[in-house]
This record gives sequence, structure tokens and C-alpha cells, in this order.
Amino acid sequence: MSIFRTKSVEASMAAADEPDHRLKRRLTALDLVVFGVGVVIGAGIFTVTGRAAHQFAGPSVVLSFVIAATVCALAAMCYAEFASTVPVSGSAYTFSYATLGEVIAWVIGWDLLLEMMLGASVVAQGWSAYLQILLGHLGIEIPAAIAPGSRFDAGAFLLVVLLTLLVAKGIKESLRVNLVLVAVKVFIVLFVIVAGIAYIDPTNWSPFIPPSAPGAEAASGIHAPVLQLITGMTPATFGVMGIMSAAALVFFAYIGFDVVATTAEEARNPQRDLPIGILGSLAVCTVLYVGVSLVITGMLPFDQINPQGALADAFEQVGRGGFATLISAGAVAGLTTVVMTLIIGSTRVTFAMSRDHLLPPGLGVTSDRTGTPVRLTLILGGLIALIASLTPIGRLEEMVNIGTLSAFVLVSLAVPILRRKRPDLQRGFRVPFSPVLPWLSAALCTYLILNLSVETWIRFIVWMAIGVVIYVVYGRHKSRLAQGLPEAGVEGTPQVLDVE
Ligand code: ALA
Repeated sequence: MSIFRTKSVEASMAAADEPDHRLKRRLTALDLVVFGVGVVIGAGIFTVTGRAAHQFAGPSVVLSFVIAATVCALAAMCYAEFASTVPVSGSAYTFSYATLGEVIAWVIGWDLLLEMMLGASVVAQGWSAYLQILLGHLGIEIPAAIAPGSRFDAGAFLLVVLLTLLVAKGIKESLRVNLVLVAVKVFIVLFVIVAGIAYIDPTNWSPFIPPSAPGAEAASGIHAPVLQLITGMTPATFGVMGIMSAAALVFFAYIGFDVVATTAEEARNPQRDLPIGILGSLAVCTVLYVGVSLVITGMLPFDQINPQGALADAFEQVGRGGFATLISAGAVAGLTTVVMTLIIGSTRVTFAMSRDHLLPPGLGVTSDRTGTPVRLTLILGGLIALIASLTPIGRLEEMVNIGTLSAFVLVSLAVPILRRKRPDLQRGFRVPFSPVLPWLSAALCTYLILNLSVETWIRFIVWMAIGVVIYVVYGRHKSRLAQGLPEAGVEGTPQVLDVE
């Protein structure tokens, strides 16, 4: 059988509609926007903004946010078309298994696993950085040996361990709790914008695009963007190239809108509401991010922006310590839910893969007591805890981005392919000007990938190579489709949202 064998779209969708296993279709378009904003706003705006401005773009990081949002909007339309055509749980992995074939599905699944595991680690590190600021304001010092940025980030470790235990126990992220945390986060972000306006000194915006400068140690050699290396340019930061490098970095802040697609089976009217949920949450976040980056770069000269806890630190520097405490408290509360959603997401993808026997089925066994895949949750949570606590801050974001961007490339390319292969499927949302826009989306994502560092490429290639070896050695022979076993339905899929 070919490695491009597919699961049938109809079987996946019929399984999702079996009365005994049907998830309740309760989520409205507004619920989906709220859910999306909850997943998207995280460490990106709270920490990565500072690093991008400080190291790559200065005030023009605002343009980087707009560029990254444009790339995401195109990819989001492709996700929306997919999700409204194959509205079953499981996001890009499931879509592609039903349409593009097993090997592509495996590659995307392996990629999503990287995105979610490392994403959870980065956000846990951001959480820990803000916890340190918060505790500092309350007069409690974290010992240097276990503080963020040290050899072992105890805060990030403990957070992930605790959340993993909760997830394994079967706690579901309830919409109500999510709503409160989203409200807190949006409030804090709006607070930064409104409170910061008074401290803007327009001279900090000038020059808006700082002149290009030779890359410092942190931006040359294997740390230089691949594009600069292959075109033979001297590695540079700031200037136009700096804006692009920063765009490739702040892309991180938008990651997560694709997770809205995983709620497809819980949406009341998926064909209409999923596109609204995906594009709506992206629009809300873009406006907030542009506002925050304008304010922060207006408050301080860009070389004084803190590359870690930028938002709280900016207020500290202008003498408003109280505001900094409030912002840190909000970040600590708000980032918790992002880490948890990403942990659940990573178990959900591997669960689906093990149910299809692309990974050993024993891994995904759900416990009778909790109804969750306990073994898988503990293994992945343990790995995430170690990665989050032992990796230096600022090393993982780019890996998350390259993983996500390559999934976006594949999903974008898949849209016109699926239109040709299955013109008969009902599509609630269609990307306009297909195939031009999907191709443009793939091209722009590729361009951003080229702006990531050589080091990131090497690590990513190693990760994907490991994935291909696992597929060749295991999944290719053992998958349900390879063995001629009946296709797995959706029963037993752990829910992300408790809609009760
Ligand atoms: N977009 C998410 C964040 O910024 C991953 O934390």
C-alpha cells in the first residue's frame, strides 16, 4: 500500500456523528473567538516582543507584528477552509490524514508535537520570568541557582509538573475558567496600552527603523538567518532585514489560532463559526499586539527594553513599580492556561497518532478511572518539564516557529490539492482567489522560515529526520491502514473544552 494512503473523510465525519460518541455542539462563534484569544495571547507578547525590539528591530518591531499577522491571516484562511470542510477533532494531523495521505499526516503530526511541546516549554519559561518579577515586588527572592535564566528553572519545572498532573487527572479546561483568564489577560494587555500612553516619548520612535548594523555575536555565525547566509550578505540586525528577522520571531505570539480548529466537533455551526473563530481571534490579537509594541517602544529607547519581562520592566523603569506588579500578576495567571492547553494539545495529537497505530497503541491507552491517556500525559509532561527547566531562555521560540511555519506551508499547499481531489465536499468557507492566495501563504511562510537562524534549521532537520526514521521503521508497517484494520473513529478523544 502507498505511503500516501488516506483515511476517508466520510468515515472520519460519520464517526464524529455517532450518537454515543458525539461531542455536544454548543460552542458559538463568540466562544471560539474567546477560546482562540485565550490560547494565542501568551509568552509571545509578554516576553518575545522585548527581545525582538532589543535585538533585531527597535521600534519597527511594530511592522514585524503586522507582517507576521498578514502571514498568519493567509494561513488562517487555509486552516478555516480545511476545518470547515473536514470538521472533526484533531487539527491539521487529522485533516491531512483524510486528504493528503499518511506520510504527510505523520510529518505534520510530528511537527505539531514539536510546536506544542516546545511551545509549552517557552510559555512556562515566560511564566517563571514573570513569577520572579512578581515575587520580587512582594519581597521574595528566588535563589539564584534555581531562578529563571539559571541552569535549572525551578518555577517552569514545577508549573509543568503540576499542570501535567492535573491534565492526567482529567481536569478539563472549562469554558468559564478560560473566560475569566482570557479576560484577565486582555485586561492586562489593554492596561499596558492605556497606562503606557502617558509615558510615551516620541523621540524614542525616531529613527523608527534603526539603521542596519552588523550582527552582534548573538546574530552571526550559526545564529545568523539562513537567508542572509545563502545570499552571502554580511549578517545584520536592524534595518529591513532586522524587521524580517523580528517578524519571524514575533510570529510566536500568534501561534495558537490554529488550535481553534481542534474544537470543530464542539462548534454549533462549524462551517460558519470556525472561520469566524479563527480569523476573529487573529484580528483581536493583532490590534492588541500592535498597540502594545507601539507603547513599549515609545516608553523606552529600544536598547533599554528588557529582552525578558519587557512589559512589566518598562513600567518599573519609568518608576511605576505598582503597575509592574499588577502586570506580572496578570501574566502569571494568564500564561498558566496557555501552558495547560499546549500540554493537552500535545497529548491529543500523539493520542490520535497512537490510535491510528502510527505510534504504539499502548501509549495512548486511556485510564478507566480518569478517561485520559495517563501514560502519554506523564511521558510528554515529564519531557516538557525537563525541556522548560533546563534549556536557556530564548533558544526554543525559533524552533516552535519553524515547526509551526512548516505545518502552515503544508496546510496551505493542501488547500488547492484538496479542491482538485475532492471538489464534491461541502466547504463552509473557501479561501478567495485559490490557488493564488494559498500559494502566496505557503511562499510567505517559507520566506519567514528563511529568516530563522541556521542553528534553528539544523535542530529542526534533526527533529524531522528522527520523525522520518520512526515512520519508516514503525508506522509504515504498523499503522491501521497498513495492516488493513478498520479505521479508528473518534471515540475516546480527550476533550480540550468542557462545554458543560
Ligand atoms: N502564541 C502563544 C504565546 O505567545 C504561543 O505564548
